Amino acid sequence: MAFERNIPYNQLPDLPPEAEIETSSVLKMAIRANKALAELRMSGQLIPNQAVLIQTLGLSEAKLSSEIENIVTTNDDLYWAFADGNVNIDAQTKEVLFYKDALWYGYDAVISKKRLLTTPLFIELVQILKNSSQNIRKLPGTKLSNPLGEIIYTPPEGEEIIRKKLASLEKFIYEESTLDPLVQLALIHYQFEAIHPFYDGNGRTGRIINILFLIYKNLLEIPVLYLSRYIIENKTSYYAGLRNVTENNAWETWVLYVLKGLEQTAIATREKVTAIHRLSKDITTTIRAKLPSIYSKELVDVLFRSPYCKIKFLEDAGIAKRQTASLYLQQLEKAGIVHSIKKGRDIYYINDAFLKILIS
Ligand SMILES: Nc1ncnc2c1ncn2[C@@H]1O[C@H](COP(=O)(O)OP(=O)(O)O)[C@@H](O)[C@H]1O
Ligand SMILES: [Mg+2]
Repeated sequence: MAFERNIPYNQLPDLPPEAEIETSSVLKMAIRANKALAELRMSGQLIPNQAVLIQTLGLSEAKLSSEIENIVTTNDDLYWAFADGNVNIDAQTKEVLFYKDALWYGYDAVISKKRLLTTPLFIELVQILKNSSQNIRKLPGTKLSNPLGEIIYTPPEGEEIIRKKLASLEKFIYEESTLDPLVQLALIHYQFEAIHPFYDGNGRTGRIINILFLIYKNLLEIPVLYLSRYIIENKTSYYAGLRNVTENNAWETWVLYVLKGLEQTAIATREKVTAIHRLSKDITTTIRAKLPSIYSKELVDVLFRSPYCKIKFLEDAGIAKRQTASLYLQQLEKAGIVHSIKKGRDIYYINDAFLKILIS
C-alpha cells in the first residue's frame, strides 16, 4: 500500500533504506562535515573548563530546540532562571529547563553509565523533558499537520508496532555499518521522527538522540554540536526534507541537508568556543592589570559559569565571604567587565561579552 497522509504509516520501512544513500554528492559533503567536526574536536581541547562550556552551550541548545516546537523563552528569563533555580518563572521557561535536564541526563547515561541508545532511555528522556509520565503511544489519533492545519503525516499506530520499529532502529544504531556515521545520523533522525513514538516531545527527544549518537560514536568528546539553530534558520527545508523522504524516497536531499547542517554548525561552534576562550584570556588580563588584588583563576571561572553571576556564586566557590564578594563584583563592574541589574531580591552581575557570544 502506498503512503497516505491520513492513514497510519505502519508500513514505514526499517533502516537502512533500499535506495543508494552514499551518492557522490553525499560522500563529498560527508567529507566536509567530518573535517569541520575534527576541527571542532581539536578546539574543544583548548578549553580549560569544559564542564562550564558544556552547560552554557547546552542551555542555549535547550532554548533553540524548544523554540522549533514553539516553546519560547527570552534569554533574560532563561539565564536568570539558570543562575537561580528558585525564581518564579513562566511555564515555557520551565519547559526549556526540563529540556536541559533531559540533555544532562542523556550525557550522563551515555558517558558515565555507558548506557546504550535504546527505547527505555528514549522514554526516560521524553519523560524528563515533558515532566510527565508519558510513554510509547497506545492510543490512536496522533497526526502531524502543517501551519494551515492540513494533515501531512500520520505516524504508525499500535504500541507493538511502534516498539518493533524502535527495536529495529536500535539495531541499526549498533550494528556495524559501512555508512559514514554522519550519514547514519541523518537516517536515524528521520526514522525516529517518522516512528514518532510519543504523543508529544518527539522532535526534542530526536534532537537529543542526535548528540548522544555523536558521543557514542566517539565523534565528539564533549557535547557541543547542536543543530537547532541551523534548523530554525532552515526550517522549511527541515519539514520538507522529512516529508519528502516519506513521500518521494528523497533520501539524498535529506542527508545533504543534515550533513550541511553538521558542517555549518561545527564551524560556528568552533568559532564560538574560540571566542569564549579568547574572552576568558582577555578578562584574565584585564583583572590582573586593573585589579590585581582580587584576581584569582576561580574568580574568572565563576564569571564564565553562567552569564548571570551573583554574590553567592563567589561565596560558594570559596573566593570570598559575602561582603568582600560583593565588593569584588562592584570593582569588576567599575572595570567594565560586568554590569549589574536587580531582579527579584538579588543583584545579578552580567558578563555581557560572554552572553553576546552565547546568543549569537
Ligand atoms: N513530515 C514529517 N514526518 C516525520 N516527522 C516530522 C514531519 N514533520 C515534522 N516532523 C518532526 O516532528 C517534530 C514535532 O513533533 P512533536 O512530537 O510535537 O515534538 P515536540 O514536542 O518536541 O514538539 C518536528 O520537530 C520534526 O522533527
Ligand atoms: Mg510538540
